[in-house]
Amino acid sequence: MKKIVVSTGAGVSAESGMPTYRDAGGLWENYPVMEVASDTGFARNPELIHRFYNNMRKKLTEQIKPNAAHLGLAALESDYDVRIITQNVDNLHERAGSTKVLHLHGELMKVRSVNHPERVYELPCDELTDKGLETSIRTRDQYGDGVRPHIVFFGEAVPNFEQAALLAREADVFVIIGTSLVVYPAAGLLSYVRSGVPVYYIDPKPVAVPSFVNVIAEPATRGVAELARQLRGM
Ligand code: APR
Repeated sequence: MKKIVVSTGAGVSAESGMPTYRDAGGLWENYPVMEVASDTGFARNPELIHRFYNNMRKKLTEQIKPNAAHLGLAALESDYDVRIITQNVDNLHERAGSTKVLHLHGELMKVRSVNHPERVYELPCDELTDKGLETSIRTRDQYGDGVRPHIVFFGEAVPNFEQAALLAREADVFVIIGTSLVVYPAAGLLSYVRSGVPVYYIDPKPVAVPSFVNVIAEPATRGVAELARQLRGM
């Protein structure tokens, strides 16, 4: 089966109602990114960070659903070996049915021990003193340790990048959807794709990319449908 490797950013979830980060009205326009998504910000004001991600997690769970782009990518699995590499912390690819999803910047539905990072808890979780979707500086796991969002903050390493680069290198088709390609190392994945491998880039406001890239200047829902058509014609 052909291996389709898809690198997604906030744009793939935009039509589900998840705000992007740098578009007009994006998340970083309303929140100082270094206050709510950096290691120094967490050290300075952990309660603010717990509240920020509690709000996002509740919105994701109670109001947000996968859109036709997530569903279209999941549907490709019937004809291709599809691997999703996402910068997104939402669980919309999984909820749409994608079975192989690699998160580069963490997962909103998970928290982890502040002292033992290998202890990761998917919310809601009975092993924590807070049983619901929200955590705080007072939340404890069964070892008595505090917890933090399982998110890669600015200033922290991106542990899954090596695996993502390997996937990009193995791609028979590489697809980029809904990312401004400004945050590294994720933005550098394209450089791992073997020359001659077809590359598609779906974004209504595409940034400059090398001339060999097939740009589909559409929103993700329409772009993924067009991609599926072009793949069938291959
Ligand atoms: N369909 C497809 N793409 C869209 C849509 C849509 N409906 N709407 C907006 N976009 C595109 C924008 O044109 C932009 O290129 O999605 C991209 C969003 O870019 P960013 O907001 O910068 O999001 P992203 O690239 O995912 O950010 C990368 O930065 O803040 C960190 O950790 C955070 O993972 C995030 C990383």
